[in-house]
Amino acid sequence: MNDADKLWAGRFNEPTDAFVEAFTASVEFDKRLYRYDIQGSMAHATMLARQGILSEQERQAICEGLTAIGECIERGAFQWSIAREDVHMNIEAALTEAIGDAGKKLHTGRSRNDQVATDVRLWLRDEIDQVNRGIARLQRVLLDLAEREADTIMPGFTHLQTAQPISFGHHLMAWFEMLDRDHDRFSDCLKRTNVMPLGAAALAGTSYPIDRHYTAELLGFERPAANSLDAVSDRDFAIEFAAAASILMMHLSRMSEELIIWSSAQFGFIELSDAFCTGSSIMPQKKNPDVPELVRGKTGRIYGHLMALLTLMKSQPLAYNKDNQEDKEPLFDTVDNLKGCLKVFADMVPAIRPKRDAMRAAALKGYATATDLADYLARRGLPFRDAHEAVGKAVALCVEKGCDLAQLSLDELRGFSDRVGDDVYEVLTLEGSLAARDHIGGTAPAQVRKAIELARWRIDQN
Ligand code: ARG
Repeated sequence: MNDADKLWAGRFNEPTDAFVEAFTASVEFDKRLYRYDIQGSMAHATMLARQGILSEQERQAICEGLTAIGECIERGAFQWSIAREDVHMNIEAALTEAIGDAGKKLHTGRSRNDQVATDVRLWLRDEIDQVNRGIARLQRVLLDLAEREADTIMPGFTHLQTAQPISFGHHLMAWFEMLDRDHDRFSDCLKRTNVMPLGAAALAGTSYPIDRHYTAELLGFERPAANSLDAVSDRDFAIEFAAAASILMMHLSRMSEELIIWSSAQFGFIELSDAFCTGSSIMPQKKNPDVPELVRGKTGRIYGHLMALLTLMKSQPLAYNKDNQEDKEPLFDTVDNLKGCLKVFADMVPAIRPKRDAMRAAALKGYATATDLADYLARRGLPFRDAHEAVGKAVALCVEKGCDLAQLSLDELRGFSDRVGDDVYEVLTLEGSLAARDHIGGTAPAQVRKAIELARWRIDQN
């Protein structure tokens, strides 16, 4: 391309250095925004015509020209040019080639600074909707599994040591709650994303009699941004999105870790479907949980993107700076990986096969009902600290004998406290232990079912 064709070449005498041209260009990645660039331009032209700044014929030529360019891009027939730097100038130059002078008027009262900020917000707004749909889909499959497994007993852990018996459904509902907060965070981020920079122009606004409320309405924005300098330079919404994405990935990495541990031979609590695992090229016995491992690994790159965006904005003076061009690749990669992780998780969860006998056997080991025994003694008048002490001694005896609490004889148990009655074995059973925790947020299967029902209602409200 001849330098004279550049849309900003007026004051330049020398051509751009060839490497600098490629170095500063963003079209290779920002062409992905084309649909939003066209949408924003059409709204801008429509507003300009309504304000009498463009004629109706010019508006029509611009909108038809942009529609044709959009179709050409969809067909893969559009010639993207690095010399035209970015998606905005590629489309504007092609428009002028196609419709002549009216194309040159499209940029009236606008700058690429408010244009790009608008494009990214329009794009991210759609992506937030899709991410939230992905979260809701994963929540629904978790609810289905939790419902099937409300009565399944597994050991609950603290410090990854057996703590108390819990319902497997209850554990899955903990994941549901994490995801519910993620959904909320994205919805909240959407409020600050859905604000319109257009009309800020380069940084100070424009001398044309524009109607920003009308453009905002055409584009479905909540309102025009209140300050032109802030409008072109603010990327908080992108940082918030990356932060919400990082928290979501942190949650998915925790779920992944548990799936990996549970599917190991040593735990054997679940079996992942073959469709989500791969084998080893050397060890014939292996079935590796690659999908959760990869999700766990991808968490790192998403955190990296959050750091990239925070650092990109650090110390930037007002208003727009070219640094901001660097916001796109981290955002795009965040969105692509987030949607991929949510999809693969939602596909994988229904195919989890719980091994209920193994979970139950594990819950029977490790003295998971020791707290129930202490509570039992406390209910019978022994101060809780003394009860704790007595049960600790009973556990020590079990360790010595290699048996479980429920396998101690009544006499042996009475040796630790005379408050032990012959009904003690009821609290030492796994079912009794779960059923006793019968309050909001507790692991009693009846409560888990109530929680699931309420959760279904809650996500239907979203
Ligand atoms: N490609 C640029 C970006 O992504 C568009 C805005 C350029 N504005 C400018 N004044 N150079 O940020």
